[in-house]
Amino acid sequence: MTAPALRFDGVAKYYESEGTRVAALDGITLDFAAGRFVALVGRSGCGKSTLLNLAGAMDLPSAGEVWIGGQAASRLSDGQLTALRRHRIGFVFQFFQLMPTLPVVENVELPALLAGLPGAREKALEKLRWVELESLAGRYPHQLSGGQAQRVAIARALVNSPSLLLADEPIGNLDTATGTVVLELLRRAAREQGALVVMATHSHESTQYCDRVVRLRDGHVESAG
Ligand SMILES: Nc1ncnc2c1ncn2[C@@H]1O[C@H](COP(=O)(O)OP(=O)(O)OP(=O)(O)O)[C@@H](O)[C@H]1O
Ligand SMILES: [Mg+2]
Repeated sequence: MTAPALRFDGVAKYYESEGTRVAALDGITLDFAAGRFVALVGRSGCGKSTLLNLAGAMDLPSAGEVWIGGQAASRLSDGQLTALRRHRIGFVFQFFQLMPTLPVVENVELPALLAGLPGAREKALEKLRWVELESLAGRYPHQLSGGQAQRVAIARALVNSPSLLLADEPIGNLDTATGTVVLELLRRAAREQGALVVMATHSHESTQYCDRVVRLRDGHVESAG
């Protein structure tokens, strides 16, 4: 049997704050299959971003284990974690986080260059075609609309063909029509590229685009879809 694309096994994440321990996540056990578009919902502070950061090996759990593509994150060295993030994982953020000093095409190719992959420019142009923004390859981020910037960010997140695409409120800063375009792209990333796409969202409507809704409450799974 193939391993799930992502597995949380009894995961907790604690933060110390003014001498007290805050459990951002507690007892999270979840399996995620490849090729799915999953919504992560729940009130502000319920642990969505914390879960995405653990899924993306940006952070390690305080207890339990996060399995990314069959690899236990806590057993990897720093170098292995960096390689995992660079090759297997793409991130999309609410505020796009494009590099302002680089033109669009260089923003998109940057993860391919960092991963040392050949053909970075071609890969970048291919992904820009995929989000239908190849014509804007030479522009700078400040010359883009919010929706265009997010599509560029999606192209960048997909440039290394990751198996895991993590999106933290990707439509939080967009109007409904523009958000719909972004949601369609995320859904296609799951369908056409076979990625597991996990999206934290406050938009109830956006969950209609997803195959599954995982609801968190105070660091626990309230329902897993
Ligand atoms: N670095 C940190 N230090 C201390 N506490 C933290 C830290 N990061 C998150 N927390 C706490 O962990 C809990 C979960 O935070 P998290 O950011 O994961 O929530 P969220 O569901 O993403 O919220 P939002 O919808 O507002 O983005 C919150 O109580 C938060 O205050
Ligand atoms: Mg958050």
